[in-house]
Amino acid sequence: MDHSLKFTRAGLIKMTIFFFFFICSHIPSSSFAAVQDFCVADYTAPSGPAGYSCKRPETVTVNDFVYSGLGVSGNTSNLFRVGDIPAYADQVPGLNGLGISMARVDIAPGGVVPLHIHRGATEVFLVVQGTLVAGFISSDRNTVYITTIKSGDIMVFPQGLLHFQVNIGATRVVGFASYSSQSPGLQILDYALFQGNFPTRLIARTTFLDILEIRKLKFIFGGTN
Ligand SMILES: *[C@@H]1O[C@H](CO)[C@@H](O)[C@H](O)[C@H]1NC(C)=O
Repeated sequence: MDHSLKFTRAGLIKMTIFFFFFICSHIPSSSFAAVQDFCVADYTAPSGPAGYSCKRPETVTVNDFVYSGLGVSGNTSNLFRVGDIPAYADQVPGLNGLGISMARVDIAPGGVVPLHIHRGATEVFLVVQGTLVAGFISSDRNTVYITTIKSGDIMVFPQGLLHFQVNIGATRVVGFASYSSQSPGLQILDYALFQGNFPTRLIARTTFLDILEIRKLKFIFGGTN
């Protein structure tokens, strides 16, 4: 019995060491967690590709890790009828460097989150109210993975892929998105094409849309050129 106990302990230690090195070797190179507990954003100092600089630990408080902005809907009085409240490192300093963040998304009846990409993050979207059709498009075969989700469902949107959500119910959709980045980024396809200064003729050449349709959409979205 004593022997088997020793064996178990030794085995446990070996396993612990193995898993320690296994886990260490899988920490992304951007993670700082191995050398410090946290890196609360110092919004006044320079930021770089890895995020904000760290506040001096003695100036950090619990409030750096708390955010109360997701209790109310964002303003849905817009073309898409969508209110989006981000809780990224820009809003929650304690998220800086940790590679995760959240957002609240409200979609009024008739509303749509149009085709968009998060440059830096996979998204998991939890529906807490309402019914929507959601989907994403694979980049290798352009397969559309599309389904109806409702309260209590989650859906995964893999990093970098175009995706959308459409409210198909009579009630407001309320959902919460989690992202595998402190700053997931958001590029909306309609805005990229029709809200900026992309010249109409080049949009026509590069998308095969006709000029009149592009002019109409630029009028709607406020684009120039
Ligand atoms: C919501 O947005 C609309 C359009 O920008 C604006 O007119 C309205 O005042 C906003 N409502 C609130 C409560 O901020």
